[in-house]
Amino acid sequence: MNVSMTNGTLNYLVKLAAEHKEDNLLLMQERDKTVAYYEGDHPSFFKEGRDYEVVENVGQVQSSGFVVMNNIPVSDEGRPVFEDRFKKRVGQVENMEGFQAIRILRPKKGNTYVVFTQWRNEQDFEDWKNSKEFEKAHANSGPQHKQKPSFIDGKPYITKYYMIQPEE
Ligand code: HEM
Repeated sequence: MNVSMTNGTLNYLVKLAAEHKEDNLLLMQERDKTVAYYEGDHPSFFKEGRDYEVVENVGQVQSSGFVVMNNIPVSDEGRPVFEDRFKKRVGQVENMEGFQAIRILRPKKGNTYVVFTQWRNEQDFEDWKNSKEFEKAHANSGPQHKQKPSFIDGKPYITKYYMIQPEE
């Protein structure tokens, strides 16, 4: 399965979504930033977008909810190690209250993997982030570790969005 995302103005992306109804584009927004999300068989969807292969997925990405993406730059030689770590991940996030979906996304260009999570609302994400399940998932890497794992090649950054369903 492939994922593509692109940024654009709300008007432009609403129109694009209407033109590609069968592809079920989802929209999300953070202040003035709007992102369209595609998931499916097309290897690449947008003219100017970020394209990914889905390495791992649980749950269905929905048209409502709250999205948190951890964007992690990974070195070329670190890719197998990174992916292996996620194959062996603790696997508790999917049992948390309000969890909707997770996607581990391997970039087709560049070096930034995305750990995409979707929640019913922002509070559900915050509750997970403050839980012992989050701590367990990050026992060997994560926010509280001063020393980054060797496969990380840059500074991870978080992006958060609310799903939106604009009137057409
Ligand atoms: C910048 C600090 C962080 C780093 C370096 C990091 C890295 C990692 C790594 C390497 C794993 C795989 C398990 C392991 O072997 O350690 C993991 C698990 C995970 N991380 Fe992070 N992480 C960070 C913060 C976050 C944040 C803020 C989120 C929020 C979306 C997140 C989402 C996840 C999820 C969903 C899992 C799998 C949990 C499970 O299976 O239950 N991480 N993280």
